[in-house]
Amino acid sequence: MDTIKTIRSRRAAKEFSSSPVYEETLLNLVDLARYSPSGGNKNSWQFVVITSRKNLDRLSETHPHCRWFSSAQAGIAIVIDPESTRYWLEDCAVAAYTIWLGATSLGLATAWAAMHQADNEAESERRQHFVRETLSIPEKLYVPVVLGIGSHKAPLPDKERPPLDTLVSWETYDKK
Ligand SMILES: Cc1cc2nc3c(=O)[nH]c(=O)nc-3n(C[C@H](O)[C@H](O)[C@H](O)COP(=O)(O)O)c2cc1C
Repeated sequence: MDTIKTIRSRRAAKEFSSSPVYEETLLNLVDLARYSPSGGNKNSWQFVVITSRKNLDRLSETHPHCRWFSSAQAGIAIVIDPESTRYWLEDCAVAAYTIWLGATSLGLATAWAAMHQADNEAESERRQHFVRETLSIPEKLYVPVVLGIGSHKAPLPDKERPPLDTLVSWETYDKK
């Protein structure tokens, strides 16, 4: 799929079929993430690839908005030491999006499980504790997002996007 088509067709999956995702494919997706830009070229992220049903089912219990892990065939946790770079959150988001686009390009379905909430430190900590414990991740590392990966159960329709003219100003900001 060409890049523009991939960007336009990417969707957040909410359920997955039972088709397996092969380890080689998952490794290829992580390989793509290495090409993500990072602040100061720190490349501080690491990735935990999850394929066991036990861990995927456990992750589905992290919070109500990631129950879809129970049908996902794989997951990729984006992991970082927040002390390694001041851009840890942005770097992880960019790497996750790289994987998401790569998976879309391969015809795979992807979902994003937020493990960090800027406005709710207690809930972030609860999610971090749960994910760290599930994946044996050391306490000093942070996991802003875990992606669920699989095949689409049914094709997802295009989604309506905000009209361009409501988003764009030229030269000076002209929105209310
Ligand atoms: C920072 C961020 C957090 C998200 N958190 C979740 C989540 O916890 N659970 C979920 O099912 N989707 C989550 N999503 C997916 C969004 O709900 C989804 O991208 C959005 O509704 C737009 O739909 P689309 O991705 O199909 O264009 C998240 C996406 C982003 C970028």
